[in-house]
Order: sequence, then structure tokens, then C-alpha cells
Amino acid sequence: MAIMIQRSITSSFLVEIKNPSNKFPLHYLYKIGPRSFCCSFNLSKPKKHPIYKCSFTVSSSLDKEAQTLIQQFNPQIPIEEALTPPSSWYTDPSFHSLELQQVFYRGWQAVGYTQQIKDPHQYFTGRLGNVEYVVCRDGNGKLHAFHNVCRHHASLLASGSGQKSCFVCPYHGWTYGLDGTLLKANRISGIKNFRVHEMGLVPLRVAIWGPFVLLNFETENLLQQESQSNIVGDEWLGSSSELLSTRINDSSLKFLCRHEYTINCNWKVFCDNYLDGGYHVPYAHKGLASGLKLESYSSIVYEKVSIQKCDGDATESAPDFDRLGSKALYAFIYPNFMVNRYGPWMDTNLVVPLGPRKCQVIFDYFLDTSLKDDHDFVERSLKESERVQVEDIILCESVQRGIESPAYCCGRYAPTVEKPMHHFHCLLYENLCN
Ligand code: FES
Ligand SMILES: [Fe+2]
Repeated sequence: MAIMIQRSITSSFLVEIKNPSNKFPLHYLYKIGPRSFCCSFNLSKPKKHPIYKCSFTVSSSLDKEAQTLIQQFNPQIPIEEALTPPSSWYTDPSFHSLELQQVFYRGWQAVGYTQQIKDPHQYFTGRLGNVEYVVCRDGNGKLHAFHNVCRHHASLLASGSGQKSCFVCPYHGWTYGLDGTLLKANRISGIKNFRVHEMGLVPLRVAIWGPFVLLNFETENLLQQESQSNIVGDEWLGSSSELLSTRINDSSLKFLCRHEYTINCNWKVFCDNYLDGGYHVPYAHKGLASGLKLESYSSIVYEKVSIQKCDGDATESAPDFDRLGSKALYAFIYPNFMVNRYGPWMDTNLVVPLGPRKCQVIFDYFLDTSLKDDHDFVERSLKESERVQVEDIILCESVQRGIESPAYCCGRYAPTVEKPMHHFHCLLYENLCN
């Protein structure tokens, strides 16, 4: 028997199991997701077992503090008069915990791209908040995702990415199939009340949309592990899904390389910088600005997506080198995923929160297959892109330091350009309140 206890918005809580008879032991009490626990009882011994009552106490003082902070931003105020969220949204640990619970452990989250798991036996691992995950294809090519945690003593199981026929725990060698089944538990002779089929890896919901792999950390509907991409597309992208399908879901694009940056700023500082409608480009990215017609910059907001567009101006910068093409599109998919499509390139930026003041940004570069052997073009393009990233990192770290200064509490929006940023803050508010 397994009892699932769901909890609402909390960052810590106690689970108390009331066992009136104490005649038989509680066998398992473990977290199966960021927001739920699973308890298993041995019910085989006493024929008449007592009724079990599970109760849990929520420690909500941190949440109350975070709830107060949420209300310091008012999404009802029009952008022309609105204040930006206060600095505490970018520094406070309880606010950060609430974001993990409410924003990242709910709904679909981009975690990788399909070429990472295109063949049977391929896998990749990652971490979001305190969730360690592994995504893999079993020997039959079926896609799976699991918590990357051994059921024996919780060692992380797989690391990095690659190809494996099974997962062997590096601690004591328990072995799991790529479908999550526990295949071998070494030296457990004498163990009682151990049911192998209950000791497999804890599953997660996984889906593919276009070239991307998505996970959902909610525990509902776990049986349906691989979700249908059209439904996921609607849930993840809303009414922008059609437009993005045509620009992003392009099979001529192949993965080229990954660049990762650890940045000393809150994850939202990086997102805000991306969402200022090109405001900072002429000041902070002079090289990039010379390849764009900035007067053509426009943005449009959908339910959970905003799209910024700008025409390219290759002749201005270098007539023989057209990295940006005639139209650049920058799509922000709430909460933390960006897809940039320009010329023969697509790059994605996944902003992973690492704490209130730190994030990691993972850049994956995809290129039209016809150009992947043009080493000079590839090298020059990546160098230019890298320069822009470094410029942004300096800006973001500077903003984080400014936010932490006693001189700053909140700022203002430039209404004609910073609509995507305002939209992001309003979405976040709504997500944190519900
Ligand atoms: S923790 Fe994995 S086998 Fe012991
Ligand atoms: Fe920038």
C-alpha cells in the first residue's frame, strides 16, 4: 500500500505517521517528488491492521514572509506607472524557495534537446532546484525520465550524459534498467519485506516538443510518462505554438555545441536583461547593434511566451559574413527558456537557478546542416556570440550588485520597449500567488 501526501506551497514540513498498534514497522517513508512524500507500509503480517492516519504539519513561516514580498509588486498598475519588483525578489532566500515550488516544480520545464537522447541507451542528467533527474531511452527506444537517486541510500546514480545498457549505482552497485526497474540489489540476503518491483527508480513525466525535451515534476498523472507533444505544445507555448513550430521546429538544424556560464546573479536578472526589448543593445552590444536594424525592433506577448523580432543589417557590419540573416527572432518561454533564431543559427538559453544570487546559463547552438563544415563561419559566429554573452554577464553581475545596494529598492519600466519584461513579472506574480 502506498499513500501519497500532496502538499501545497511550502518549503518545509513534517510528516507524522500515526501507527496506533506499533505491531509492525513502517517500511518506507521517502520523498517521491519535490512536493510529495510516499509512505509504504508492510501490511502482510497482521491480518487485521489498524486504520492508518497520516497527518502533516506545515512549517509556513518562510512562506508567509515570501507571500508578503510577492505583494510588493502590483501587476494591476499599468506599465507606464508601474514599479518593477522590489530588490527582495532577487535576493531573499524564502522568496527563492517559493519560486522553486511554485514556478519550477510545476508545469513543463525545458531540460535538453532531442539529439541528446536520439538513440536507444542514450541518457543525460541534470538538476533543477533540488531535483536530480535523468532522461534516457531504453533498449526499445522508449523515452523515460526518473529522479536520478538510488533507492538504497540515495546516491546519485548516473552522471553527465552518454550511453549505457543499465544504471549501476557507484556506491554499492544496485543496478537499474533504463526503464527504471531494479535489476540487481547486491548482498541483501536476509532482507525481509523487500519487494523488488516497488524499488525501481521514481519516474518523472517527460515530453518532446520539436527539438526540445521537457520535464514536469508534478506527481499527478505519472502513469502517462511520455506525454503527447501537441498537448504539451499547447500547455507549454499556448497560442504561440503554431508560430514557433514554423520557426523553431526545423529538421535542417543540427546541434553543434554547448557553452555553459555560471553567473553571480539571480536567474531573473538574466531574464530581465533578455526581455528589455533591445533597450540595452546599442549601449552594451555595439558589435551586435551594427548587424541589426534596431529601429525595426518589435515585441509581442502571448500567454506564457513573448517574442521579440528585429531585422538584420549584414551589409552594415561585414558584407562577407552574415551570421544574423535578414530576420532575428528571440522567443522567451516562461519561466526560464529562450530560443533565438537568426540566419542559419538557432541557439537556446536555459537559465537554471542555483540560489538567490547565482544561476547557470546553458547555451546550446544549432546550425543549418549545410553550414556545419564551414569552420571559418562557425568559428567567427561563435566568437561573436561569446562576446555578446560576456557583455551580458558583466551587465547582469553589475545589476545584481546594484540590487543589493541599500540605495536601490525598485525601478521603473521604459513603457514602449520593456513590455516583455513587465509581462514576465506579471506572470511570475500570478504564478506565485496561485
Ligand atoms: S546508494 Fe546506491 S547502491 Fe547503495
Ligand atoms: Fe544583451
